[in-house]
Amino acid sequence: MLLVLPTDSRPVYLRIADALRTAIMQERLPATSRLPSSRQLATLLGVHKHTVMAAMDELVAEGWLEARQRSSYRVHRSPPKQVRAHRQLARLNAPNVNEFSWAQRQNVEIFSNADYFQFENQRITHRFTSDGPDLRLIPLDEFRDVLRRAGNSPAAEVFGYGGAQGVPTLLESIQTYLQRMRAIQGRHIIVTNGSTEAILMVALLLLGPGKRVVMDKLCFRPIHEIFSLTRTEICSVPMDADGTDPGALEAVLRHRGADLIYLTPLHHYPTTRTMPLERRALIYQIAAQYGVPILEDDYDHEFHYSGMPLAPMASDDPLGLVIYASTFSKSAFPGARIGFLAVPNALLLPLCKVRRCTTWQVNGLAQQAMAIWINEGGFERHIARVRCTYQRRLTHMLACIDALKASTLPELQLRVPDGGLAIWLDTKRDSQAVVDRAAARGVLAHSEHFCSLTPAVRGSHLRLAFASMAEDEISAGLALLGQAIADTPCV
Ligand SMILES: Cc1ncc(COP(=O)(O)O)c(C=O)c1O
Repeated sequence: MLLVLPTDSRPVYLRIADALRTAIMQERLPATSRLPSSRQLATLLGVHKHTVMAAMDELVAEGWLEARQRSSYRVHRSPPKQVRAHRQLARLNAPNVNEFSWAQRQNVEIFSNADYFQFENQRITHRFTSDGPDLRLIPLDEFRDVLRRAGNSPAAEVFGYGGAQGVPTLLESIQTYLQRMRAIQGRHIIVTNGSTEAILMVALLLLGPGKRVVMDKLCFRPIHEIFSLTRTEICSVPMDADGTDPGALEAVLRHRGADLIYLTPLHHYPTTRTMPLERRALIYQIAAQYGVPILEDDYDHEFHYSGMPLAPMASDDPLGLVIYASTFSKSAFPGARIGFLAVPNALLLPLCKVRRCTTWQVNGLAQQAMAIWINEGGFERHIARVRCTYQRRLTHMLACIDALKASTLPELQLRVPDGGLAIWLDTKRDSQAVVDRAAARGVLAHSEHFCSLTPAVRGSHLRLAFASMAEDEISAGLALLGQAIADTPCV
């Protein structure tokens, strides 16, 4: 008899009982069959006889076994009724089904596309897809100290069920920071598990079947998938050199209407373009005219290299129609899972309620630690340090691209970004074909095809994130990528 004991931390007798119960349920031990003696089982399993007997007592009490003498047991002639009936009914109702089929279920089908993970089994040495910060630059000892001190906060603040809005000290720190750095005032902050959850919460509140969201035809893929998950109709609009095409946006709102406009105006994802002030004003007026709210995703404003970053749309929002989302994932580190929303008064309560039924709150300890780090100045010192490093890395990246142009690939083109953690390179080749070839050489990059809302659009651009790589890593990665580009025919 083969008994496979579960390997969890429960007492051995419970795990033996579990293994025997499973064997009976699967009919490997049929009704009325006799079990080996407790002594034999004890020898087989390498345990004491009393441990086996404790397991048997458990199963007798549950009705799976009958005890004959003190240590001889048989499987009950009718094991617990409900379980048997349940198994038989399941077979009767679905006689031809061996295993339940998940594949056709709506979202399972959409989400079974392995796109993010397609190169997971390949040996990857350079990841230009990693849009996050360089984790090697985080002052870990400083943050560990802050975490330790956060743990000394009043228990109710960090260890209990906290308020859905966030830990009060962090709410205050973010409010002050936003007012100083992004000229945002008069809004309510809600701390979220990254800006991903912030956007999910807005989608759950405002979107759903029968609703429509408008977004640029190129976008950050997970955001598109959040909207798909809520079964919202997604309407893409084209872009020009300044970002979202206002004429196309106006036409959609006039003819079809919409319930939300999603934008990344400061450093557009994936093209990195900054939307100029006049264009923002125009988009705002169109949204106001048709009464459609804007969700502004300001995900990496701390990293702007040509002067101060433009103020967000939320800082000049006389009608209160902009919902602002941002994150500490780029400025601090993504593992903290701290992002936030800054919302008009009317949305505070509804979003806190959405919050309650999704993840309730962000980890209190992490929130408190982030608040201490911000209030003591550590966070901004860190940003100032890494901003210089990332700017150097961008300069280095541009120099490497220039070198590639001068040697083998004169057709490469790019517009130097004003900020952010990535560049948008025109390879003049099928973007996905380049990415596939690059992956075979150990280099990951996002293709324009991957970022496109229209599957038929292959595009010729790559989004290449540079912040998480040191200069020598960038050089080596770009050399390999250059070979992959050169091996791909021009379109
Ligand atoms: C445009 C954009 N929005 C949102 C996010 C989500 O960031 P997080 O959930 O880590 O805050 C990202 C992450 O890369 C992003 O690029």
